[in-house]
Amino acid sequence: MPYPTMTQNKSLELSDDIFHLFRDLMYEQSGIVLDERAKYFVENRLLHSVQRLQFDSYRDYYFYLKYDRKKDEELASVIDLLSIHETYFFREEQQLKSFSEEILPEIASKKNQNKSLRIWSAGCSTGEEPYTISMLLHEKAEFRDWTIEIFATDISQRVLQSARRGIYQPTAFRSTDPRYVAKYFKKEENAHRISDEIKKNVVFLHLNLLDSSKLAFINPMDVIFCRNVIIYFDLPTKRKVVEMFHHKLKDQGFLLLGHSESLINISAAYALRHLKHDMVYQKLNQSPVLADAER
Ligand SMILES: C[S@@+](CC[C@H](N)C(=O)[O-])C[C@H]1O[C@@H](n2cnc3c(N)ncnc32)[C@H](O)[C@@H]1O
Repeated sequence: MPYPTMTQNKSLELSDDIFHLFRDLMYEQSGIVLDERAKYFVENRLLHSVQRLQFDSYRDYYFYLKYDRKKDEELASVIDLLSIHETYFFREEQQLKSFSEEILPEIASKKNQNKSLRIWSAGCSTGEEPYTISMLLHEKAEFRDWTIEIFATDISQRVLQSARRGIYQPTAFRSTDPRYVAKYFKKEENAHRISDEIKKNVVFLHLNLLDSSKLAFINPMDVIFCRNVIIYFDLPTKRKVVEMFHHKLKDQGFLLLGHSESLINISAAYALRHLKHDMVYQKLNQSPVLADAER
C-alpha cells in the first residue's frame, strides 16, 4: 500500500484551492454564491459523493464534474446538495394575506371577461409554496370558474420529484392552520398527501433562472413569487433575474419576494405598493433606465 491510512483520510480534506474551484463552478451553474465560510459545508455535503465514486480526493471529484462523460448528472446532484431548499406551507403569512385579500381581487376586477390567471413560483423547492398558492385560490369562490395555471420551477430535479409526489412530514406544516391540513390533505401513516384538487392546478418544471434559452418558453404571468431564492445570488445576478421577471410579468403584474429581500439597488422598474398586510412590488409599465451610478 503506497500510503498509510491517515494519509488517505487526509486526502479527503478540502483544500482552499479546490474549495474555490467548487465555489466558482456553483456560481457559474446556478448563480449561488458560496462565501469563505461555506468551505466546511461544501466538504461535508460532498464527502458522500466523493466516496460513492471512490475518488481519493475532492480534486479528482472536481475534475470528474468538469470533464467526465457523465458529468451533467453528477453536476445536478452537486447543485442540489449545495443549495438551500428550506420551505414550508403558508410561509410569510402577512404577504399571503395581501395576495389573497388584495392582489387577487385587484387582478379579478381588471380582467373583465378574461378569466385566466397565471402564477409562477420561481424556486419552488419541494412544492409547499405553489401548493399554498393553489389552496388560497381554491378558497376564493370568485375564482371557481377561472382557468388557473401555477407554474412551479426549480433548478433541482430532486426537490421537483418530491414536489410532484406531494407527501409531507409534520415540519412542513409548522405555520399551517390545521383547517387546511384537514381539508386538503390525506393522512398516510406519519405523513400527509396533498389532494388532487389542489395538485391539478400546479405544473412542476425543471428550470434554471439563469438559463435564457429555456426561459424563452415562459409566457407572461400575473404574479411571480420568487421568495428566498435571490438572497443567495450576488448583485449582478439579482439584477439579471429581476430584469428577466420584468419581461415575464404582464403589465402591472406583481412580484413577491421573501421578507428579507428588496429591490433597493437592484431595479427601479417596479413600484413598491403598500398594501394593508404587507408591501409588494408591482411592475411599472414604463421601465425607467437606471444609470449605473444610481444602481
Ligand atoms: C430556500 S428555497 C425557497 C423555497 C420557497 N420559494 C420558499 O420561500 O419557501 C430556494 C430554492 O431556490 C432554488 N434555486 C436556487 N438557485 C436557482 C436557480 N438558479 N434557478 C432555479 N432555482 C434555483 C433552490 O434549488 C431551492 O429549492
